[in-house]
Amino acid sequence: MQVDRPGVLQKPLSVPDKLLMGPGPSNCPPRVLHAMSLPVLGHLHQETCSIMDEVKAGIQYVFQTKNSLTLAISTSGHGGMEAALSNLIEPGDGVLVAVNGIWGQRAADMARRYGGNVNTIEKPAGENFCLNAVERGLTQYRPAIFFVTQGESSTGVTAQHHQEFINELDKMYNCLLVVDTVASLGGVPVYTDQWEIDVIYTGSQKVLGAPPGLAPISFSPRAEAKIASRKTPVAVFYWDMMLLGTYWACFGTPRIYHHTIPVSLLYGLREGLAIVVEEGINKCIARHQACARRLYDGLEKLGLSLYVEKKEARLPTVTTIKVPKGLDWRLVQEYSMKKYRLEISGGLGPTVGKVMRVGLMGYNATMEKVDFTLKVLGEALEYARSPQHAKL
Ligand code: GLV
Repeated sequence: MQVDRPGVLQKPLSVPDKLLMGPGPSNCPPRVLHAMSLPVLGHLHQETCSIMDEVKAGIQYVFQTKNSLTLAISTSGHGGMEAALSNLIEPGDGVLVAVNGIWGQRAADMARRYGGNVNTIEKPAGENFCLNAVERGLTQYRPAIFFVTQGESSTGVTAQHHQEFINELDKMYNCLLVVDTVASLGGVPVYTDQWEIDVIYTGSQKVLGAPPGLAPISFSPRAEAKIASRKTPVAVFYWDMMLLGTYWACFGTPRIYHHTIPVSLLYGLREGLAIVVEEGINKCIARHQACARRLYDGLEKLGLSLYVEKKEARLPTVTTIKVPKGLDWRLVQEYSMKKYRLEISGGLGPTVGKVMRVGLMGYNATMEKVDFTLKVLGEALEYARSPQHAKL
């Protein structure tokens, strides 16, 4: 034996219970955790297939779509972006990406890797796109694919109030509209069919309240036709929607093995979706928005300022707070975590060092948790400003 039995694995697993008030993952409701402890089944067992059908119906509901090519990919939300772009883009396709934070930047990077002829329209972090900027981009570049992030979790910005208009433009310019709703779904309205969105995806670990690991995704018939008529195969077998769609019985043909689905995560997502279905998607969105308003008021009372100035551009699920001048935000994070096991996050990408982020998602979007987070934040600010902070 060249490698001894590792001592670390001879101790019990240790996982603390934390309150995840960052940009995701959020805490799973007990019902989701319970579902994941149910027995593991095979990837083509009849019961697994029935649960896949239930999950598909739930995804169609939360996305408000009747698209038959609707399923959950075995990956994080970020993999949803990868799958959307790798399926749609063929080398040389024009791709326009709206960049106002890290997710737009990543989408542009990925689209280049798949051979897209990529252009961007850009806005500074903290701002959303006005319709004119979108129209100028579409007129100038005439892309085959237009990508927009509905919830920029790195900056706390939503594109929501422009979505319908953006869609109108897309129809005029005849391009496929891809919308990232990883951080926004369930907190911001989205009507996939009504707005004629061609590809939409999200992550299981935010408002849906399941652990990270599955990415709900849906393709319109137009997007499906583009994939079906590709001249080159999708570069990544794992993302190939024609194969995945067969496994998920999206084409009315018998299911064929593609990969071994993480069945315990599937149970968790099934229950996360069932909870949203029971509440109703509109009520779920209204709850997130009401919690966000309460958070904004409380932050103001604490003397803090929001990073996103335009009210209608604020993403209810992820609030970005300006780091006050001279404050070491890491001390706020440290205090909240050490004293209360409560996660408050720092910035990401263009907002690193500039903001703190508070997430309100799914099980954590309640008035009680907002109030508790504000209380902890108030104490943490005092701690960070006091000379004693080293003593914690
Ligand atoms: C992840 O989604 C993040 O915004 O940190």
